[in-house]
Amino acid sequence: MLTKRLAACAALVTKGGVVCDVGTDHAYLTAELLQKGICTRAVATDIHQGPLDAARRTLSEAGVLAQTELRLCDGLEQVQPEGITDVVIAGMGGETIVHILEQCPWKNAVHLILQPMTKIPTLRQWLAAQGFGWKEHVIAEGEKFYVILDAWYDGTPRTLSILEQEVGCPDWTEKTAQRYASWKRVRFQKLAQQLETAGQPDAQKWKAAAAQLEQMEHTWEESKC
Ligand SMILES: C[S@@+](CC[C@H](N)C(=O)[O-])C[C@H]1O[C@@H](n2cnc3c(N)ncnc32)[C@H](O)[C@@H]1O
Repeated sequence: MLTKRLAACAALVTKGGVVCDVGTDHAYLTAELLQKGICTRAVATDIHQGPLDAARRTLSEAGVLAQTELRLCDGLEQVQPEGITDVVIAGMGGETIVHILEQCPWKNAVHLILQPMTKIPTLRQWLAAQGFGWKEHVIAEGEKFYVILDAWYDGTPRTLSILEQEVGCPDWTEKTAQRYASWKRVRFQKLAQQLETAGQPDAQKWKAAAAQLEQMEHTWEESKC
């Protein structure tokens, strides 16, 4: 059984497609996609031997090892793109995800499912500058929020507003996205306060971002009445 975070990634994978699970670790995602028949075949990569051994065990126990190619490599370096429809890169930092995509010559031809743990604004800015579009999903697991970017190349580079960089563009009618916005607003307010105390001019930027989120929250509150 997948965690809510990985299940949300799995739900975005193309039915009947071929997935490449980068940084597979225990290959839980790959095993589930193959066992459920969502994917016909898979490639699973990891940069370390230990996780790849664990992946082999999981896939063997799940009876889907024959449908999977395992690759010990950095990102997608050793992966042949033929037939691959979806690339999932989950549970890694935003800068690592950017590094992996920068090295991949065929990134524009596949559906990308990206689940960064840190440096999410860096990833969003890079995707936008490279001409990728995406939908965002916010998942809550306990006290934690996870963001998933469901991305595809559309050839239109763009620049992002501060709010688009820092908070993203989820469907704001979703309750989890609204809770995420409130959590972010509190973080921005605290940061603005700290920077103001330290006499840093950047304080205004975070104050303005917090105010914008507060305005959005008011609108959501009003729409409940
Ligand atoms: C925290 S685990 C995430 C596992 C799984 N994808 C998930 O979301 O639950 C990160 C995995 O990515 C692998 N990894 C880190 N950098 C990588 C890279 N550049 N290329 C391939 N795998 C990488 C690590 O070895 C580790 O197994």
